[in-house]
Amino acid sequence: MVRLGITGTPGTGKTSVSSELSRITGWKVVHVNDIALEFSIDVYKDSSVIDVERLEEKLRNIDGNVIFESHLLCEMKLNLDYMIVLRCNPIELKRRLALKGWDSDKIKTNVEAEYLDYCLIKSERNYPRVFQVDTTNLTPKEVAVRILDIIKGGKDDDVDWSDQLFKSL
Ligand SMILES: Nc1ncnc2c1ncn2[C@@H]1O[C@H](COP(=O)(O)OP(=O)(O)OP(=O)(O)O)[C@@H](O)[C@H]1O
Ligand SMILES: [Mg+2]
Repeated sequence: MVRLGITGTPGTGKTSVSSELSRITGWKVVHVNDIALEFSIDVYKDSSVIDVERLEEKLRNIDGNVIFESHLLCEMKLNLDYMIVLRCNPIELKRRLALKGWDSDKIKTNVEAEYLDYCLIKSERNYPRVFQVDTTNLTPKEVAVRILDIIKGGKDDDVDWSDQLFKSL
């Protein structure tokens, strides 16, 4: 059995890649954001406040070969065999988020999170086996194939956007 997590900044392609990976492997996809809404206990500034402990318990008890996907995963501690952090060059990420129709403040917050390795740092605190895939120049299908290669022991990507950040200052 394989329990795989896919996390990353919004727009890195988690949902697209999960469905490609599921198509190739037959593993079921759990869209954690959707399940999280079942554990909403309050609303604050237009966002749901989630009972994370109960959500984690529910996710821990899903069995079989599973692909869990969400940016929320990096904040949790689940029983995952592999945690994949999808990465995207912040310039390309800005383009993808603009295509989603997001406003400029929301885009800026997420591009900053990508520059600062937010999901990677959180994942490394919460999970023992964390691997990165740079999606910038790959299709979702190619990213899915990269993930399968990593599971088989292949090397992951070493991502560092700091050079680009300093050049832009
Ligand atoms: N590898 C890719 N190359 C180019 N565009 C991509 C790639 N992956 C996803 N996209 C596009 O970027 C957008 C975001 O993709 P997707 O919704 O899969 O990201 P996500 O990480 O699930 O985002 P969210 O956290 O907001 O759910 C979509 O318009 C998708 O078509
Ligand atoms: Mg998504």
